[in-house]
Amino acid sequence: MLNIVILGTGNLAKHFYSAFSKADNVDVVQVVGRNQKELQRFSKHSNISNDFDNITDADVYLIAVKDDAITEVSNYLANKKGIVVHTSGATDLNAIKSKNRGVFYPLQTFTKGKTVDFGSIPICIEAEEKNSLETLRNLAKSISKNVHHIDSEQRKKLHLAAVFVNNFTNYLYSVGEELCLEEGLSFDLLKPLILETAEKVWTMSPKEAQTGPARRNDIKSMESHLKLLNKKEHITLYKLLSQAIKQDHEEEL
Ligand SMILES: NC(=O)c1ccc[n+]([C@@H]2O[C@H](COP(=O)([O-])OP(=O)(O)OC[C@H]3O[C@@H](n4cnc5c(N)ncnc54)[C@H](OP(=O)(O)O)[C@@H]3O)[C@@H](O)[C@H]2O)c1
Repeated sequence: MLNIVILGTGNLAKHFYSAFSKADNVDVVQVVGRNQKELQRFSKHSNISNDFDNITDADVYLIAVKDDAITEVSNYLANKKGIVVHTSGATDLNAIKSKNRGVFYPLQTFTKGKTVDFGSIPICIEAEEKNSLETLRNLAKSISKNVHHIDSEQRKKLHLAAVFVNNFTNYLYSVGEELCLEEGLSFDLLKPLILETAEKVWTMSPKEAQTGPARRNDIKSMESHLKLLNKKEHITLYKLLSQAIKQDHEEEL
């Protein structure tokens, strides 16, 4: 049995809590956070506390607080024997000051009120000590079949890649929604296209899957699109992305 403490009561803490509470070989012995109201949501299977000076002994301490507070929270765990891990994609392992430290980064987007199936989520683990890495592997395997040993440099690049495929893509969805609404059209019209675009990368590389006026260098279509855009930032984005796509496919034109 692995005893763990979760630090933080936000989005990821809640998703971890729900996944680990169902895992056979894991006991969430305590959840520690500043927000008393949010803490109550964790009281069903675990002890809860808002006192960072009295954290229960455990095998693993999962720090799930905002990136900028990881070092501050890890300082409360400096004398603990268990493994202190953060859960951030963009933060170096060195942000934790304890000797026995690591990273436990789930590569997925977690949002309040939206359940996720942890079983297939890649969990990227890192630790300086071999035994700690094995413990983190066992912990990760208790909730996911998709566990990877990835070092800090690789993880930071992976997180950057995730920002492109998730955050930026989602922003482009919101631009699409805005353009639909300007014409009184439902965003639902675009959903089959969104799904097909995402599904295509399971069977071919994104570069191969690229379509559209920029790939074909259809200048007239691109000029007419630009005339339809009202916002300066949308025009800038359209030009920038079209130029990047064109360059990526220059040899075919
Ligand atoms: N959400 C995702 O999709 C996702 C995916 C992978 C990894 N992560 C990582 O998970 C970690 C948490 O992200 P999240 O999405 O769960 O954020 P979140 O929902 O905004 O929650 C942040 C948590 O950090 C706590 N916190 C902030 N400053 C603190 C401090 N100085 N001392 C103690 N607690 C503090 C907040 O407590 P209060 O409520 O008291 O402010 C809250 O419980 C981050 O490192 C993030 O990079 C997130």
